[in-house]
Amino acid sequence: MRVLFIGDIVGSPGRQIVQHRLADIVAQRQIDLVIANGENSASGFGITPRLAQELLNMGIDVLTGGNHSWDRREILEYMPHESRLLRPANFPDGNPGSGLYVGTAKNGVKYAVLNLQGRVFMASIDDPFRKADSELAKIPADVAFVFVDMHAETTSEKLAMGWYLDGRVTAVVGTHTHVTTADEHVLPEGTAFITDVGMTGPHGGVIGMDRQGIIRKFLDGLPARFEVASGDVQMNCVLIETADEAPRNSAGRLRARSIERLRFCID
Ligand SMILES: [Fe+2]
Ligand SMILES: [Fe+2]
Repeated sequence: MRVLFIGDIVGSPGRQIVQHRLADIVAQRQIDLVIANGENSASGFGITPRLAQELLNMGIDVLTGGNHSWDRREILEYMPHESRLLRPANFPDGNPGSGLYVGTAKNGVKYAVLNLQGRVFMASIDDPFRKADSELAKIPADVAFVFVDMHAETTSEKLAMGWYLDGRVTAVVGTHTHVTTADEHVLPEGTAFITDVGMTGPHGGVIGMDRQGIIRKFLDGLPARFEVASGDVQMNCVLIETADEAPRNSAGRLRARSIERLRFCID
């Protein structure tokens, strides 16, 4: 089984490169399932119902979120109606939406996607580690592929989650920093891991936003409105391949054979 994960999609440049490239990538690399982080798809801040639908219609099967999941008020009402749009599971119980999705990929394999958020240098929400335990316990036994998006600021918290879930899920990938790390590998018990996938959008600014505004903010510290950057639009992804013939992991899920970083640019 081959699964593509697309790093945080930022603004219209990010949406456009996905629209432009995804179908070919899926066909050429025989992708069975596409997951993407969409927390920045609305001008860098949040996601709207229209944009969620637009991204799902491009061939993305499940959208994950993060600290920006709640930026657009209209998404709160929409979330309970679109189970393929996740937000981190460890926000307070009772918040709209869910952090876990269970579905069937186009190759017929049942899969689950779990979205978590870290707490170091971020909002002090519920413990993502204990939340991972309780959410994983809800996943039916016939689910073969389990994917975790760990949306967090620090490398340590993301790698700790990778080790914590090694042998229980197929992949743990980090998102949120918008900067790709070069540490993709498969952990000893078969869980694919990368600290951060990086982002999908313009790299001519500072983590997706216009550099002039960001530099000014560092200089004067005054409140500012940031615009999406332009230039050097990249789509940063990882491709996870499962070891279908290998024994399942301790939770009965598929092990990963490999994790590969992929970067696509606008020609
Ligand atoms: Fe992001
Ligand atoms: Fe984020």
